[in-house]
Amino acid sequence: MELKADMCRLWPGGTLYGVRCQQSWSGIYLLERMLHSGSYASVVEYGSGHGALSLFLCCWAAQHGLAFQTVERYQAKLACDGGVTDTKALLARLGCVVSDLDCQAQATADAMAALTKAPRLWVIDNGNKPVEAALVAQVADASDVMLLHDYGTEVGDKSAPPGWAKWGPWQAEADDIEAKYLVLKKEQASG
Ligand SMILES: C[S@@+](CC[C@H](N)C(=O)[O-])C[C@H]1O[C@@H](n2cnc3c(N)ncnc32)[C@H](O)[C@@H]1O
Repeated sequence: MELKADMCRLWPGGTLYGVRCQQSWSGIYLLERMLHSGSYASVVEYGSGHGALSLFLCCWAAQHGLAFQTVERYQAKLACDGGVTDTKALLARLGCVVSDLDCQAQATADAMAALTKAPRLWVIDNGNKPVEAALVAQVADASDVMLLHDYGTEVGDKSAPPGWAKWGPWQAEADDIEAKYLVLKKEQASG
């Protein structure tokens, strides 16, 4: 069966674990596969929103021994999104703190890098993704990967920070299933 973008869309109105989610099913599929590649020690999410993707990443991290951090400046979004408990409280029960920090501050990237070990998967789904990616690039390890959401609308090929480039295998997969991510890795120095 051919996978069509329309079949994969969660947003607007769709939920994951009953919580509003701004990804697509194809995005969740890609993340599941990337995480299974076994390459990461930590995951950092910029922009928790209502917390659905945070729950997914947090469960994954808890299950497989990865560190997980998520950042959201407007924490009220995580309060009782149709459930009986707020998502922030649920995340806390799973051992995840939602940091009330500004993703557009260098200090936040510094703090997230200090709290986690490389290789990291940075999931950047915030207010201004190219700006946040440029800040993350200042502290990222050569083994880290950045995933910028909304490729094709908010993010394009020129959104990569200097020294970062599309990461072939996963970018090809994201394009294939219309997962709408720009997948970046640091360019290796030649010679
Ligand atoms: C697209 S939503 C995140 C969606 C979520 N990752 C998901 O998959 O459901 C972006 C979030 O970034 C938050 N945000 C925007 N600018 C921010 C900033 N400068 N610092 C921290 N959070 C910010 C917004 O409040 C919003 O909840």
